[in-house]
Amino acid sequence: MRGESPSTQAATDEADFLSCVRAGLRQQPKSIPPKFFYDAHGSHLFNLICTTPEYYPTPTETGILERYGAEMAELIGTSCVLIELGSGSAVKTPLLLRHLSDDAVYVPIDICEPHLLHSTRRLQNTFPSMRMQPLCLDYTQIPVRALSTFSDKRQVIFFPGSTIGNYTPDEVIQLLKHVAELVGDDGALLIGVDCKKSPDLLNAAYNDAEGYTAAFNLNLLTRMQRELGAQLDAGKFEHYAYYNAALGRIEMHLVSCCTQAIRLGNESFTLAEGETIHTENSYKYTAHEFQQLARKAGWYLKATWSDQGGLFDVHYLSLSATEPRHLASQTA
Ligand code: TRP
Repeated sequence: MRGESPSTQAATDEADFLSCVRAGLRQQPKSIPPKFFYDAHGSHLFNLICTTPEYYPTPTETGILERYGAEMAELIGTSCVLIELGSGSAVKTPLLLRHLSDDAVYVPIDICEPHLLHSTRRLQNTFPSMRMQPLCLDYTQIPVRALSTFSDKRQVIFFPGSTIGNYTPDEVIQLLKHVAELVGDDGALLIGVDCKKSPDLLNAAYNDAEGYTAAFNLNLLTRMQRELGAQLDAGKFEHYAYYNAALGRIEMHLVSCCTQAIRLGNESFTLAEGETIHTENSYKYTAHEFQQLARKAGWYLKATWSDQGGLFDVHYLSLSATEPRHLASQTA
């Protein structure tokens, strides 16, 4: 966060991690928020997940951006401020940036500082004349003034990777309302959403044969040991992910292989054999379901680009029922 020294920020993060883990383990069923997956090692494992043959969302969304990036840029306006939420290593971003004009501004936002700075440097080398301003923040808590210096340009939120699926429908409405307030009346949203499909394909995507998803999930326990001094046996937990068709979501859990305890400070949390810590959801939406949800947050669906197999959608939404005037003239 700007205005804080890095050490203060680290202390804040650690306090947040501790209080979230403590609160989550006190609950029944137990859970830990997924944002804590992304320490340096977790971010690295996440990149590996995206390279597995089972994890179709990455190549599918990449293909959509490759094919329709120019069309997307034309719709959002090529001289915009592109704000990427949870930019990570921003591998797909060039597919959009290459169609924006030189006076566009790129604002990547990510919670993991090394990844944020590294990927911004890489993009700046590829697009030397584009202004880039990385923000190391939790994107669910962007201060309204954080983007006010760019208010002369149209602000467009770029949220690829179906990260939106990692929030509950109620949280999606909250988050989409939050970003609507940030971008102002002529703002836009370009968002990747994973579609409902055969449970076999979905289950395989979150149980890759290489075991990267399992390692990613289990890394949360190692991080708790290292950063919070938690006493636990990570070898006595297993990765478990399955498609819950009734709720339309993949659920990811850490399953306790035996009766055991996690010690955190002076507290002890007992887990029965087979009891789980719920670590993440990944909701899947039809275009219509997503449109209905976004409408509740004030957004209008304007366009959707998909792959031929109908696995993945990239939606473009705006805050006005009719296209803003400058867009109407561009697309006429
Ligand atoms: N948001 C994407 C998804 O839900 C990517 C992702 C987040 C992911 N956490 C994950 C993929 C854990 C695999 C495992 O698919």
